[in-house]
Amino acid sequence: MKAMLAGQDAQTHLYCCGPGPMLNAFEAACEAHGYPNVHIERFAADPSTESVQEGEYVVQLSRTGSLVKVPSGKSLLDALLEAGLDVEHSCREGVCGSCETAVLEGCPDHRDSVLSNSERASNKTMMVCVSGCKGSRLVLDL
Ligand code: FES
Repeated sequence: MKAMLAGQDAQTHLYCCGPGPMLNAFEAACEAHGYPNVHIERFAADPSTESVQEGEYVVQLSRTGSLVKVPSGKSLLDALLEAGLDVEHSCREGVCGSCETAVLEGCPDHRDSVLSNSERASNKTMMVCVSGCKGSRLVLDL
C-alpha cells in the first residue's frame, strides 16, 4: 500500500473504501507519506473509538445563544435532540457524515470515521453523533 501511494502530489485528495484492515493500512500509508487530504468511507464504526466521552461540557448554539448541557456519558447528538433541535443524522456511528456540524469555537474531540486528519486538525466541523469536546465549551453553528 505504501509503495502504491508513493509519489503523489501533496495536494492530491486520496479516497479509499473497503474492509477495516485495508482502510487502516491506507491511512497508515498516507500518514507515512505525509498526505493531508485523505478520505475514507467505513461501513461500521472504528472499534478502536469510544463514542461517548466522560466529563460534562456545555454547547452554545450560535443562532439563538441557547446553552445545551451535555452530561457525562450522553452523546452530543442526543443532548441536541432532547433540547428540541432538528439535527440531521442517520448512522449514529460517525461513518455517514449526515450530522456534520460547523464548529465556531472550542476544540472538538473527534471520534468519527469521516473527517480527514487535516479536517480534524482544522476543527471547523464535527460529527455530533460520536464526537465530543476536549474542553468545557463548544459553540456550534446551530
Ligand atoms: S449520524 Fe452518521 S456520522 Fe453522525
